[in-house]
Amino acid sequence: MGRFSVVKRVLLVTLCGVFLIAGIVVALAEEKKSAANEKKKVDHRKAFAIYKKKCLQCHDSVADPEKRGHTRDEWLLVLKTMHGYGLGLSPQEVELISGLLYDLRRGMEKDPG
Ligand code: HEC
Repeated sequence: MGRFSVVKRVLLVTLCGVFLIAGIVVALAEEKKSAANEKKKVDHRKAFAIYKKKCLQCHDSVADPEKRGHTRDEWLLVLKTMHGYGLGLSPQEVELISGLLYDLRRGMEKDPG
């Protein structure tokens, strides 16, 4: 075997290594992305428990999928208003409840009829 073919082999192995590492890096990045997406979704059961405790002392449930949907910003505004009525909500609870209501009332964008 000549010197040239050794060099070629080393190059080939190096190239394989580079592709392998690139593949791993891409796979890890994808995994991180989907983990971030998971995190954005609220835990409905946990959110509903807080919602039930904090929101239903004054009025009937507004978590009605038949009712018109709101954007996340609109829900944050509603929560801020309710918060102004002396409701002690932590930022985390606001996040959970707004996520819950947004998810539940996404079905209908407008009042029918
Ligand atoms: C201290 C009593 C009280 C609590 C607690 C309360 N609300 Fe309300 N809520 C009201 C009153 C009074 C109204 C009607 C007057 C108004 O709209 O300001 C209302 C109206 C609403 C409306 C309809 C008005 C709109 O802007 O769409 C929504 C939705 C709502 N509340 C959601 C919530 C949620 C979610 C919670 C829990 C985070 C909550 N409320 C907790 C008193 C309360």
